Amino acid sequence: MKTTTITQHIEQENKNASRADITHFYDEATSDYSFWSKDLNMHFGYFIFGRTHPFRRDSMLNEMNRQIYNRLQLPEGTTTVADLGCGMGGTMRSFLKKNSQLSTIGVTLSPFQVREGNKLLKGKKGLILEENFCETSISSQSVDGVVGVESLCHSGHSKESLREAFRILKPGGRFVISDAFLKKQPSELCLGSSFSYKELCKGWSLDGLSVITTVEQHLKEIGFSNVTVEDVSFRVAPSVLHVPFAIVGFLGQQLLQYKKIKPQSWNNLKASFYALLSGLHMKDFGYYLITAEK
Ligand SMILES: C[S@@+](CC[C@H](N)C(=O)[O-])C[C@H]1O[C@@H](n2cnc3c(N)ncnc32)[C@H](O)[C@@H]1O
Repeated sequence: MKTTTITQHIEQENKNASRADITHFYDEATSDYSFWSKDLNMHFGYFIFGRTHPFRRDSMLNEMNRQIYNRLQLPEGTTTVADLGCGMGGTMRSFLKKNSQLSTIGVTLSPFQVREGNKLLKGKKGLILEENFCETSISSQSVDGVVGVESLCHSGHSKESLREAFRILKPGGRFVISDAFLKKQPSELCLGSSFSYKELCKGWSLDGLSVITTVEQHLKEIGFSNVTVEDVSFRVAPSVLHVPFAIVGFLGQQLLQYKKIKPQSWNNLKASFYALLSGLHMKDFGYYLITAEK
């Protein structure tokens, strides 16, 4: 029994992201995201010529929420959507604005996000819980849609997190993942990609990005059908190109306000930079929208 515990402990230590690291990272760095998005969307955006403005970041970030919502194809009437790794509830609030008959439930590891995110949801049909998305308290077959927006990467898009989505979904419900994935095994990445990837995972406390074909296979093995994988890298690229400007702007603002930059903020800035570098290695990384049906 003792040996198992020690082995598990070592395994956990060898990963980039212990739960404590993720919680600490988001408790400290979440407020920085107000610089990235007024609506506190903690993800990249989706650009459509004529619909979103490449210089208005929030228009692209909210368009990503809209794209995800549309793929859920929720039935008419009252419905519920679960957001696994919901951050400050940016996606939840955006969904609630679109659909007055919708209720949303989000889970996150960060007590800061639970406290502050729930304040933003006050008076709306949404609630954020402090729970692990691999084992939530949400009842089986109780929700009409599940989303995971740049969150499941913290667990390396683990089979446990995908299985949890399947468990809580009603039959016929849809699961939409929006995230970056590898196009090949980590051992096959070129030197530049491999370096950016390691730094990206370290800075953002990620267990790793799954290989796109692996996650697709895992979804099918779990029992999902009609698994659709869309490479939307070019749609996401304009918002990724905002990263250097956001970094310089954020640092300038902190300096002007004589604020000390927290270690977690530095990690966030470094990881954002490496996300941009990784994005340039298009043979190795891609940004995908995955839709799967139960
Ligand atoms: C980059 S943020 C994305 C937040 C949100 N989906 C958005 O797009 O605005 C990643 C989120 O995943 C959450 N997260 C990471 N690992 C988790 C886990 N095991 N269980 C629950 N939430 C987790 C973090 O707490 C954080 O809220």
